[in-house]
Amino acid sequence: MICLTLSGSTLSECLDEIRENREYIDSAELRLDLLSPEEQRKASSFPSMVDIPVILTLRRKEDGGRCTLPERERRALLLSALDGSFAYVDIEEDVKRNDVEDKAREKGVRIIRSFHDFSGIPDDIYSRIYRLAERGDVAKAAVTPHTIQDLLRLFRIAEELRDVPKIIIGMGDWGIPLRILYRRAGSLLTFACSGEAVAPGQISARDLRLMYHADKVTDRTAIYGIIGNPVLHTSSPLIHNPGFHAINYDAIYLPFMVDNVRVFFALAEYLKMRGFSVTVPFKDAVLMYLGNITREVKQIGACNTVVRMPGMWKGMNTDYYGFLAPISKDIESGRIRNSLVIGAGGAAQAIVWALRNRGVRVTVLNRTVTRAEKLAKINLCEYDTLSNASLYEGKVDLIVQTTSVGLYPDFDANPIEGFRFSGREIAYDIIYKPKMTKFLREAEAAGCTLHFGEEMLLEQGKLQFELFTGYHYPRSLHPSL
Ligand code: ATR
Repeated sequence: MICLTLSGSTLSECLDEIRENREYIDSAELRLDLLSPEEQRKASSFPSMVDIPVILTLRRKEDGGRCTLPERERRALLLSALDGSFAYVDIEEDVKRNDVEDKAREKGVRIIRSFHDFSGIPDDIYSRIYRLAERGDVAKAAVTPHTIQDLLRLFRIAEELRDVPKIIIGMGDWGIPLRILYRRAGSLLTFACSGEAVAPGQISARDLRLMYHADKVTDRTAIYGIIGNPVLHTSSPLIHNPGFHAINYDAIYLPFMVDNVRVFFALAEYLKMRGFSVTVPFKDAVLMYLGNITREVKQIGACNTVVRMPGMWKGMNTDYYGFLAPISKDIESGRIRNSLVIGAGGAAQAIVWALRNRGVRVTVLNRTVTRAEKLAKINLCEYDTLSNASLYEGKVDLIVQTTSVGLYPDFDANPIEGFRFSGREIAYDIIYKPKMTKFLREAEAAGCTLHFGEEMLLEQGKLQFELFTGYHYPRSLHPSL
């Protein structure tokens, strides 16, 4: 089940939330502690106003809620709400056998026994979940992983507790895969939000159902993903998930925050992942775990696509192809012969290699000239310091911006501020958020032809999709990134 955590302060706001999200959810959690005191007293009427099962929860402050009432008053409030037809009531681990539990049993309301840990994962998590399940109908553990190792541990615990009715939640960024793959972990449900997350790391109900199809995941579903740090802003799930869906391929693609590549490979084996994308800062770090790499990966020194092969992982690079696709015709026709590449970081590696491989002359301009020199030597091209950019005015056909300058939220920064475009250059910025960077705005004002980072992102993603699935990316799909 996808369960919407209601965040309204009145019952009517909560009803609106359910109405807005109805097609994405199977159940809802009424958080009594978020309601105003007058509304709390009317809560028993709520379940009869909706057509889905409702969980009744009155979360204490120490468990991440807002309720500060003395325990007796808190229980009295829960008791009066239980006059309504709730499907579940959430009772915390440390609450002894009590009148709320008795009334719930009497009325056939199922009991979720829960505990929360906002600082980490308790050492005794396994036995605690086990004991909780014995005391209620469902055990719920909401804990906080801080590393990829923690996430792997939670998946393993979930597997060991396969036959125990439970909900295991990994709060925060590290736990997101557990929220999306809740069915793989054998959790009864996953909590979702409608807008602003009510708990750390919550994903919207709409994304869980429409983008990830998280409720359709089975043991047979092929798992793909993207590793990075940070990674949650990535648009790649918007390319791959709709692609899988359109060709009826039973697969899911999700983001993994990673701090240790070796442990991620262990998780990838554990989840029997079929492949994954690699983004900053791991494009070099994955190389040592690959049994096979393509010529491009070897020469570029960076891998952005990893695919499972019999007995090993194979590394490929689709960045260079994605970068070239929008300008390929201009290279073939001879419109592009001379180029300037701004930046000499990880992203520039594949781009300089791609241009050189197609016979385009390149000058790498970088703030730190030693990095430009290194990249230029590997690729047999020229280099210079960024402050000399004006020397190249009017002399090149293509200018590629590969630095992080201008990236959201830095709308007003341009690494070659004041550069005078002649208007006949092709300006290409690989940043895709925002689409229109200051670099591109200035190029456009001079009459240049523009290319955007989202073109590159989409093209590299489409080729990656082919490597993942063996099928072409559906022509009819135009993901908005
Ligand atoms: P990525 O892998 O995303 O390319 P990176 O390897 O850290 O990231 O490279 C970032 C690029 O942006 C580098 O070329 C960097 O220049 P330096 O090598 O001099 O650090 C460039 N860059 C970052 N901030 C910059 C700034 N404020 N002005 C100019 N260049 C900048």
